[in-house]
Amino acid sequence: MSDTAKIVIGGAAHDLPIVVGTEGDRAVDITKLRVTTGHVTLDEGYANTGSCRSAITFVDGEKGILRYRGIPIEQLAMNSTFVETCWLLIYGRLPTQEQLKTWSGLFTRYEMIHEGLYKHFDGFPPTGHPMAILSAMINAGSCYEPDMMEMESDTTFQVAAARLISKIRTIAAASYKASIGQPIVYPKPHLDYCSNFLHMMFSLPYRDYEPDPDSVAALQMILILHADHEQNCSSSTVRMVASSGANMFASCAAGVCALWGRLHGGANAAVVEMLQQLHDQRVDLKEYVTLVKGKESPVRLMGFGHRVYKQYDPRATILKEVADRLLGRLKRPDPLLEIAKRLEDVALNDPYFIERRLYPNVDFYSGVILRAMGIPVNMFTVMFAMGRMPGWIANWKEVHNGAIALYRPRQVYVGEPERRYVPIHERSAAGESGRESGR
Ligand code: CMC
Repeated sequence: MSDTAKIVIGGAAHDLPIVVGTEGDRAVDITKLRVTTGHVTLDEGYANTGSCRSAITFVDGEKGILRYRGIPIEQLAMNSTFVETCWLLIYGRLPTQEQLKTWSGLFTRYEMIHEGLYKHFDGFPPTGHPMAILSAMINAGSCYEPDMMEMESDTTFQVAAARLISKIRTIAAASYKASIGQPIVYPKPHLDYCSNFLHMMFSLPYRDYEPDPDSVAALQMILILHADHEQNCSSSTVRMVASSGANMFASCAAGVCALWGRLHGGANAAVVEMLQQLHDQRVDLKEYVTLVKGKESPVRLMGFGHRVYKQYDPRATILKEVADRLLGRLKRPDPLLEIAKRLEDVALNDPYFIERRLYPNVDFYSGVILRAMGIPVNMFTVMFAMGRMPGWIANWKEVHNGAIALYRPRQVYVGEPERRYVPIHERSAAGESGRESGR
């Protein structure tokens, strides 16, 4: 195969180098295209655009492969912990025993948030969405960590990364407690990452919550599976913000906002809302699938389809098993899990889904698992954010340490051509000058 591509514009041919990744993925390098031809490429939604070279995560959507730093997700899910996976993503290799001990120690040391920061929770109304609170609090956190703003040494970076991953769990649980009018629960240093989070979510001043080992294991799995996913919307946002030189807190707060939307991290909550509605209104699942297929229908089958995976999402395979295991132990089976499985069956046998290669994604089963742990639906995307934090930090680090210029895409302008400024007394309510007055 040729190592250059050729593009012919206005009769003139231009050679463009081909860049080949570790796994054989190939990209046409257009870095010099505008300078040499005066043209830019147009790829709305970036489905064909490689925005960077990254050594963090590999996804093969055709084969259903996901690897963090080369290690298959199935092996990490089976053997690793979230804290260890964070190190792997951020540093590119598995930690030694000593490194893991120091790293975990930092999580414990920095698990509290500044007392001043707790007061911010009083400023949010109880109806405030936890994602808004989370993003605001991560940004506000930087005001309490001024020494973390300049990452001048590896040690400062390591402490900042551990602080952020540790504190996001304290902030998340505190925002939940504030929203239900209960006193905020402080972390306990002897508990592991996941148990500590569940303790802060569900303990009361007069009664300690005893985390159930199955829930702790399921949470661990969810966090590992969400820890990174190459250039998804929120990680690309983090990189974009980082490229301006913004600090890690500001960049990750922006990542939280990008994650919030229903087509990205918000899908896990949307799936459970959909399943609940199907259950409560006893909707016929075949009819529902017909509804989501409609060209004019505003409804999509939430938790199905993926920009990259044209196969079963490997994370969904693992989560389906976890859901079966965790929910199988409940005294009363969760009807939403049964509906999810039947819905999956209907969709996977439907020509619309087969032709478009739409399969369950990570969000299809994660919601029912979180529900079984007692996590409220409006906290689901917060859980995703907790999991994705190491991925955001690894991406931030790659941009911060690299010689990458400011991320600043071009556009094709399709607005008005140059025209005259119309003084206000000459404008009419409608027509040409009316449009001008609305600008
Ligand atoms: N239900 C019904 N139709 C769908 C769905 C769906 N869930 N997903 C895609 N399609 C159809 C779509 O209408 C289009 O049909 P046509 O070719 O006739 O116009 C075709 O499949 C291709 O869809 P697309 O929107 O062009 O594909 P995309 O790569 O831009 O979208 C997606 C990917 C995830 C936004 C989309 O599949 C979707 O909206 N899924 C539901 C929301 C969801 O579950 N999001 C979580 C994504 S995974 C976790 C994460 O990234 O955060």
